[in-house]
Amino acid sequence: MSNVNIGKQAAGEVAAKLVHDGMIVGIGTGSTVAYFIEALGWRIQTEGLKIHGIPTSETTVAHATRLGIPLVPLTPQTCPDLTIDGADEANPKLDLIKGAGGALVREKLVAAASAEFVVIADSSKRVAQLGAFPLSLAVVPFAVANLMAQLKEEFEVAPHLRLKASGEPFVSDDGLSILDLPFERIQRPAILDKRLKILPGVVETGIFVGLAKRMLVGHPDGRVEAVYPAE
Ligand code: A5P
Repeated sequence: MSNVNIGKQAAGEVAAKLVHDGMIVGIGTGSTVAYFIEALGWRIQTEGLKIHGIPTSETTVAHATRLGIPLVPLTPQTCPDLTIDGADEANPKLDLIKGAGGALVREKLVAAASAEFVVIADSSKRVAQLGAFPLSLAVVPFAVANLMAQLKEEFEVAPHLRLKASGEPFVSDDGLSILDLPFERIQRPAILDKRLKILPGVVETGIFVGLAKRMLVGHPDGRVEAVYPAE
C-alpha cells in the first residue's frame, strides 16, 4: 500500500471510532471516506453498532448499502450528529477545497446541517494557502459556455469543463456540470466563495469555510494527528 493510502486508511479508521450508538452520521465521498465506510461497516457487523447514515453521493450510497449501513435522507428531523468527509486541500484555519469527486453540492449540504464536521485526509492535503488544487464549481449545464467566458474575464482564471474518461462532459449526481478553476492561490476563500456563488448558473463552489472544526490527518507511518482551526 502507498504511503498516501496508509495515511488515508489510518484517518478513516480513527474517524470510525468517533461514531456512537444512535448517531446520525453524514458520510462523505472519495477514496479516504471509502476507508471510513469500511471501518464503519465492520463495526456494525462485529459490534452491532446502531446508526443511520446520510450519504453525499450515489457512490457512497452503493458502498454503504453493500456493507449494511442503514441510510436515511437529509431532512430537518435527521440532521447529522457528525459528518466525516475528505478534502482536496485544507489550510491552517481548516478552510477547505473539496469537489474532486464531483459531490460538492451534497457534501456542503450535509456538512452545513451537521452538528460536527470532521475532515479526514492524508498529510499531503495540508497546505499553507488554498488554490494549488483546482477549485470545483458545480454549475447548470445550460450556463457552461457563458460562465466560462465570464470567469475568464472577471476572475482572470481559465476554467476547464470536467470530462469523463470517455471525453463526454462529466455530469454530477444532481445533473450538474463541473468547472475546475486553477486559481493557484486563493487569498480570501470566503470572499471568493461569495463572489462565485452570486453568478447566475453557479449552484455551489468547492470552498468550505468555517465548517470543519477538526481534521484527522493520517501520516505515512500510520500515525493520526488531530488538527484544529488556527486562530
Ligand atoms: C468529493 O467530491 C470530494 O470532495 C472528496 O471529499 C475530496 O476530493 C477528497 O477525496 P479523496 O479522499 O479521494 O482524496
